[in-house]
Amino acid sequence: MKKQFLFVLLIWIGYEAGHHVSAQNNIIKPCEIWPDNRGKHIQAHGGGIIRLNKTYYWYGEDRSLGLDPDFRYVSCYSSKDLVNWKFKGDVLKITDPVNCEERWVLERPKVFYNKKTRKYVMYFHLDCPVNGSYRIAKVGIAISDKPNGDFEFIKSFRPLGHESRDIGQFVDDDGTAYLIFEDRPYGFRIAKLTDDYLDIEKEVCLIAEHLEGGAIVHYDSLYYAIGSNLTGWDPNPNKYATAKALEGPWSEFKDIAPPETNTYGSQSTLLLKITGKKGTVVLFMGDIWKPEAQWDSRYLWMPVEIGAGKLKLPDPIPFQINVKTGEVKILDNNINKESGS
Ligand code: GAL
Repeated sequence: MKKQFLFVLLIWIGYEAGHHVSAQNNIIKPCEIWPDNRGKHIQAHGGGIIRLNKTYYWYGEDRSLGLDPDFRYVSCYSSKDLVNWKFKGDVLKITDPVNCEERWVLERPKVFYNKKTRKYVMYFHLDCPVNGSYRIAKVGIAISDKPNGDFEFIKSFRPLGHESRDIGQFVDDDGTAYLIFEDRPYGFRIAKLTDDYLDIEKEVCLIAEHLEGGAIVHYDSLYYAIGSNLTGWDPNPNKYATAKALEGPWSEFKDIAPPETNTYGSQSTLLLKITGKKGTVVLFMGDIWKPEAQWDSRYLWMPVEIGAGKLKLPDPIPFQINVKTGEVKILDNNINKESGS
């Protein structure tokens, strides 16, 4: 009996090790299929990431083929290294909470962890598309006691009474949590969450620029905000601006990549800062949408060149990241062809 157990254990360890190596070789390959621990392409589109202790949690839209069309699904994956991701399940699965007449959408889920209440608070864009345009422009909130759910839908509303389409999340170095939301008539807003994160406390800034997919990072005493133009699923030249304080004033917006590349076919969703023992790296996280095959939409993650008020998204090329040291190694582009994935 004991021998059998040992045998199974060894097989399992071998499988796990082999699986991880074959899945990614500990290399992040922008724009490619990104297999999770089951070998399935990660479904966490329009997503967000939080780190708790030493674990990263990635939440996003699960757009797998074959899901029940009456429901919308938010997935959760966990990782210690940002490369190998374990599927933790669909942590939110709900039917239309607002009774849209035709279709309904739940997009760009972002989860915040509230230290005081010990709750995980998920915000998402909730809407009813009519003839292709989103009409109700609300956020929805769902909460959970654990990072891997289940999340329970609580309510939906317009933040501070404003229209809210694409949302983004930003947690400052002091732990203060902000929602970034696109307010179609005015631009996009940065708003501070209440103590329990279940509401908006106040507006911090209206950036009068029509951008969505908003994301912010604080790096070397400057805030960098990025966003994309309003072109739906089609990529466009994403832009950035800087400010010494979230309240502004914000600089003019400039392209993050050569404009003819349309952000290498991607759209911003998050800027993730990794502070290690040897350095700090900021990752651009973007979605490469495939509107006709959403389950196959890809991710463009790439360390940005950032500092002194400038932010540049380099050519997407495979890279390695060490989350403990904060170091990255940009690899040769041929790695894609060599690995045959
Ligand atoms: C984009 C938005 C996506 C999705 C899409 C639908 O502008 O960033 O999250 O809403 O439009 O057309």
